[in-house]
Amino acid sequence: MAQPLRIAVLLERTSGETRVAATPETVRKFVALGAAVAVEQGAGVAASIADADFAAAGAEVAAAGAVVAGADVILAVQGPEPELLTGAAPGAWIVGGLDPLGHRSRIEAYAAAGFEALAMEFMPRITRAQSMDILSSQANLAGYKAVIAAADAYGRAFPLMMTAAGTINAAKVFVMGVGVAGLQAIATARRLGAVVSATDVRSATREQIQSLGAKPIFVENVAGIEGEGSGGYATEMSPEYRQAQAELVSAHIAKQDIVVTTALIPGRPAPRLVSDAQIATMKPGSVIVDLAIAQGGNVEGAVADTVVERHGVKIIAHANTPATLPADASALFARNLYNFLSAFWDKEAGRPVLDAEIGDAVRLTMGGRIVHERLG
Ligand code: NAI
Repeated sequence: MAQPLRIAVLLERTSGETRVAATPETVRKFVALGAAVAVEQGAGVAASIADADFAAAGAEVAAAGAVVAGADVILAVQGPEPELLTGAAPGAWIVGGLDPLGHRSRIEAYAAAGFEALAMEFMPRITRAQSMDILSSQANLAGYKAVIAAADAYGRAFPLMMTAAGTINAAKVFVMGVGVAGLQAIATARRLGAVVSATDVRSATREQIQSLGAKPIFVENVAGIEGEGSGGYATEMSPEYRQAQAELVSAHIAKQDIVVTTALIPGRPAPRLVSDAQIATMKPGSVIVDLAIAQGGNVEGAVADTVVERHGVKIIAHANTPATLPADASALFARNLYNFLSAFWDKEAGRPVLDAEIGDAVRLTMGGRIVHERLG
């Protein structure tokens, strides 16, 4: 009988990171598959998971060195520093949100150490990979939290209230970018009683916006653009389109109380959607939440992890919004990793064996080299 696959889960060391890449639930499931799981002491504390809960699920709880020693698979929310991985098995897999385009030198170090780095954010957008998609699971929570943060910072209430002392008008919320985060932002704002409108460059989102009870705000009749690129992602728009979008948004934004922006273009800086001049037209007390700040931001003047006030408007931009919901974000992230590894589990080998469609999409390094075309 072969040695069980050794899975290591470390405490996340990136500043502000509160999530953990495994939960007692996923530990139990990995153990049921025949793997041995080791978790660093304190790894789950920020996500409200005690060491004892990991131990009860069948994990060995130990210091980092012992957790990594002989590990075949290292699960991570964000890429661990390569020095931390000394002692892992030759060719060990590093599985997590490795930010390949933002942390190139770290990926090179993984390659040099002979590790196989598997970047979960490169998961292809195909039906069978939906349950493995960390971008979706985390964006959904971020969209929810963006609206909660906006409501908290807003000096007024969201729902229409008719009281003996008079009427409070419903807040007007505008969501820019209607992917996974944007859809959840719309749904959350609606639940809180706001009047919601939304925009995107992909025309397919029009019906989704309407089905959530919000109003679509779209650029019409601009030739030469196709907002939908490969895999359901957006493409960069023509100058003509951007001009038309800016005019439309200018007219709309001045009437809004809350703006939530979520627009991203894979592998490129986030598109600039809200200018300082547009912010100046908003009412004092309005709130903008920029969820794209980690990719440069959609809003002029937004600063990561700081509430900026411009023209009486608060601009909120958490660099890591999912980390503000650590328990749920960890639960979903951990399930994504489990769904990925278990889907490829080879009973005979006692470990996952990837197929080409998903393996080639997520594999960054192998055999001492960077092998991914997007890092070529
Ligand atoms: P994303 O996070 O890459 O971008 C967010 C949104 O911003 C997108 O809807 C995009 O069209 C929009 N956007 C980009 N540039 C813009 C601009 N200049 N103005 C306004 N909006 C702009 O997108 P996300 O959330 O990852 O999802 C995109 C699509 O992919 C969705 O339709 C989603 O359902 C689909 N999807 C499919 C999956 C699968 O089949 N496994 C998994 C995840 C998402």
